[in-house]
Amino acid sequence: MARKILVTSALPYANGSIHLGHLVEYIQTDIWVRFQKMQGHTVHYVCADDTHGTPIMLRAEKEGITPEALIANVHKEHSADFKEFLVEFDNYYSTNAPENKELSQTIYRKLKANGKIATKTIEQFYDPVKNMFLPDRFIKGECPKCHAKDQYGDNCEVCGATYNPTELINAYSAVSGAAPVRKETEHYFFKLSECEAFLKDWTRSEAIKGKPTLQGEAANKMGEWFENGLNDWDISRDAPYFGFEIPDAPGKYFYVWLDAPIGYMASFKKLCADKGLDFDEYWNKDSSTELYHFIGKDILYFHALFWPATLEFSGYRTPTQIFAHGFLTVNGEKMSKSRGTFITARSYLDHIKNPEYLRYYYAAKLNSTMEDIDLSLDDFVARVNSDLVGKYINIASRTAGFINKRFAGKLSPSSSNTVIAELKAAAQIIADAYAGREYGRALREIMRLSDIANGFVAERAPWVMAKQEGQDAALQQVCSDAIEMFRLLTLYLKPVLPKLAAEIEQFLNIEPLNWASVNASLNAGHAINEYSHLITRIDPKLIEAMTEANKENLTATAQVSAPAKTKAEPEAILPEGEYISIDDFTKVDLRIATIVNAEHVEGAEKLLKLTLDIGEDKTRQVFAGIKSAYDPATLVGRNTVMVANLAPRKMKFGMSEGMVLAASDERGGPFILTPDVGAQPGMRVK
Ligand code: 2FM
Ligand code: ZN
Repeated sequence: MARKILVTSALPYANGSIHLGHLVEYIQTDIWVRFQKMQGHTVHYVCADDTHGTPIMLRAEKEGITPEALIANVHKEHSADFKEFLVEFDNYYSTNAPENKELSQTIYRKLKANGKIATKTIEQFYDPVKNMFLPDRFIKGECPKCHAKDQYGDNCEVCGATYNPTELINAYSAVSGAAPVRKETEHYFFKLSECEAFLKDWTRSEAIKGKPTLQGEAANKMGEWFENGLNDWDISRDAPYFGFEIPDAPGKYFYVWLDAPIGYMASFKKLCADKGLDFDEYWNKDSSTELYHFIGKDILYFHALFWPATLEFSGYRTPTQIFAHGFLTVNGEKMSKSRGTFITARSYLDHIKNPEYLRYYYAAKLNSTMEDIDLSLDDFVARVNSDLVGKYINIASRTAGFINKRFAGKLSPSSSNTVIAELKAAAQIIADAYAGREYGRALREIMRLSDIANGFVAERAPWVMAKQEGQDAALQQVCSDAIEMFRLLTLYLKPVLPKLAAEIEQFLNIEPLNWASVNASLNAGHAINEYSHLITRIDPKLIEAMTEANKENLTATAQVSAPAKTKAEPEAILPEGEYISIDDFTKVDLRIATIVNAEHVEGAEKLLKLTLDIGEDKTRQVFAGIKSAYDPATLVGRNTVMVANLAPRKMKFGMSEGMVLAASDERGGPFILTPDVGAQPGMRVK
């Protein structure tokens, strides 16, 4: 029976790039969703950027742009990364959306009406210069245990001690450097302590028989938390804060973690509006649809306690199951910038190009537990080359050519081949493994079948038959059987390798494969298209180049943040005799400019084309020699300084109507300038 399923992955924060660690989860979820869709179920897969909170507010400020501009830039970047990794959301939204505001406020009002909201006056650290309350992360100081300097407010990265920010020696605000003071403020709390009975029951429940809501390890973790007793949950933050205001509480905002999971609902609500789906059918308390959240084990507390309690006591359905996975290590260790193993999605794409290699490798490593998974870069190369190229693709590459050249692409009738029968018989085992998120098991089975298929081809040796007289029919039959085996293996691998599968469907000249296609066969006389080589081996040099490039990035960043450490003579200031007068200086009309667009210029090695808003009716076009230092996407929305009265210059690529200022010498650069917060486009710099 066709099921109705809503699936989510955790919402990535809108202040950083997607990296290989994030991709474990999105690839894991995408495979599951694609598999369920192939089963003929109705599946909606939604996600969004997690856009609120202090770090995002401060990061935007530092970049001299509004939080809205920052999250719009990041949304573009994240969407492009996911698309290229073939992570196919039905909607990728933002938590800073009208649907989310409305749902968050409605849910809050319902919790309040149910007596689940309380207020309490608490004391918090306050930055008297910046006039804002400081989250623990933004308080730094000397570790009370080992006296290491510049440690965070909650734990010491040097000795590993945990403590309260009050215990730090010489605490200072990481925002302004000022000594924080303690200040009273009223906060809003969700009375989680009153939800204990419900949660104890829920965390041990089975919404569908035989499918526990939580994995065993997760349920045990819950047990520990219950033993310690549940505290009420602080859901408010004081202005200034980038988020949604709490109804009837001026100056108070929802803490980012309150509206983040509601973002799952909001993203789905938008999808409903776009596609004419029924939101209530999926979220009503008595809904018969299924709801699954894929998350990392670090955010279990939010998803297995706060979230179901929020839903339950505001009158919505609760999740059917929560699937938590472990962390990613690279070469057996935490991802590391100095080793070049902190690899962004973009950097992988730039170097390795093919996203399906990583999808395959992750799938081969994934299971249904919360264990960490390791990306061993040597093993990655070996596994992809041996499994995908050496085993799977090999079946087609050794047989398709004969069908194309000798039989005009036409296949023989399917025979009573026992290998084909064995491949078909494995469909259920493989389906069960995918459904149970045991992808490693599914792929082991598929590779076992690939070995058998290769054995069949090797034993019949079509390349020998092709040279023998009177063997035409037998040659055509062997190759046709091999092609049918290849079709079945492609079907089984399709959730993991959707792009390759689509190319193979085109080569086989067949409709898109779904799980029911196991029972079909290629008909006698069916004509396949010309075979062209489908994938190539990974060259280990690409891996080396990728890790090297990630190390290089660090050097470049280090230069930006710690120029004092690099010893180089600054360029001499012009000699005395060449002083200019103030009149000379005021001839240069410097203006604040907002970069509204930035793009590469075809054929230009050093230039980026910038579109600048300096408060005039029309924007200015400027070609700037900063390509070596900036990815254009990161420039859009930034403020900088331009010379506005430089004579327009006709360049090979078009007119350049001014110049942006940037610093550089042998220590690095170019570094473009950023004015202080508050500067507006068109303001004169003098
Ligand atoms: O931990 C994180 O990266 C959060 N941004 C995840 C949010 S998931 C959901 F609850 F919104
Ligand atoms: Zn310490």
